[in-house]
Amino acid sequence: MKIVSIVGARPQFVKAATVSRVLRRDPATREILLHTGQHYDDNMSEIFFRELNIPEPDYNLEVGSGSHAEQTGAMMKRIEEILLKEKPDCTLVYGDTNSTLAGALTSAKLHIPVAHVEAGLRSFNRAMPEEINRIVTDRIAGLLFAPTQTAVSHLTHEGLGDITCFTGDVMYDSVLYYKGWLLKDPEKYRTPEIPAKYMLATIHRAENTDNPVNLKNIFTAFSELNQDIVLPIHPRTRKILQSQVSLPENVHIIDPVGYLQMLKLTLDATRVLTDSGGLQKEAYFLEKPCITLRTETEWVETLHDRWNIITGSDPGLIRQAVLSEHPTTPIRPAFGNGKAAEMILQKLLLF
Ligand code: UD1
Repeated sequence: MKIVSIVGARPQFVKAATVSRVLRRDPATREILLHTGQHYDDNMSEIFFRELNIPEPDYNLEVGSGSHAEQTGAMMKRIEEILLKEKPDCTLVYGDTNSTLAGALTSAKLHIPVAHVEAGLRSFNRAMPEEINRIVTDRIAGLLFAPTQTAVSHLTHEGLGDITCFTGDVMYDSVLYYKGWLLKDPEKYRTPEIPAKYMLATIHRAENTDNPVNLKNIFTAFSELNQDIVLPIHPRTRKILQSQVSLPENVHIIDPVGYLQMLKLTLDATRVLTDSGGLQKEAYFLEKPCITLRTETEWVETLHDRWNIITGSDPGLIRQAVLSEHPTTPIRPAFGNGKAAEMILQKLLLF
């Protein structure tokens, strides 16, 4: 079975690392890896391929940045050429980025079946580009791999239950697998020159970076927290920050880091503050309390016992959440058994 896997942005590399490893072990599958080039800086892209042993992409479209339409359109044009040439049995798309949408749409129009990893996530907030990408991708895909039972129920509710299977979350597989690497050689992944005790933060969502009020509120809250905060900074946030916000002294900005260094930063942090979907889950899997700097989350399973607290950009709520007690109940096994990628392979072989 010939499969074209389509990736392009940072969170997709982490998911593809785990799925590719399993696909390539099985002689019945042949994977062609297509990188759209949505992320292109070394520390947003290549570093993941190097350190997670992801095979070199067979194609890199190098589309780079642009408006949503420019970026998605440029990807579709190039993906079409490659799909026409490769004639795969199916394509595999991941998550909810513009690369996901471009891959799914191009493939469906060529009548090549599409399978979607991390299907069924919903924030019910259509102002998010990711929500539009998810809804459209799930609608046109032929096989939907749901990471949680909540995702299964969303898809069932939308009439897509027949093509949905619960696989568990490949990001959970990834954390279990790569945590072993960290524990074997913790020094290798330690970030130099950061405070010994810190909270870890990330901010990159358009709803925060492109809204000056939200961004200012978040940094006002950070400045009042009286604790050190380490913030690996996404390039879009860096650009906006320079012109809009003066940096509080307790916030330590560092360049974007690879997956393993990020897991280590999470493991060693006291708490996580983030607007990333992936990091909310990684914090949960690593048993770190998380504060979500958004007004909703797709990962509702992480909310029990206040393992994850939703604050948006409200300084009062952020402060309150940081002062809250550490959760006392264990995390729940809502994200599968760490074998989501194997399940995906088995279902793909029958697709
Ligand atoms: C994308 C995804 C988002 C995901 C995130 C992970 C969409 C709509 N959004 O957002 O769901 O959580 O990836 O990081 O697909 N830039 C660089 N170098 C890079 C990449 C980006 O400088 O290697 C800068 C550019 O100024 C670019 C901006 O970041 O315009 C935004 O990049 P883009 O890929 O459009 O979206 P992300 O914010 O990364």
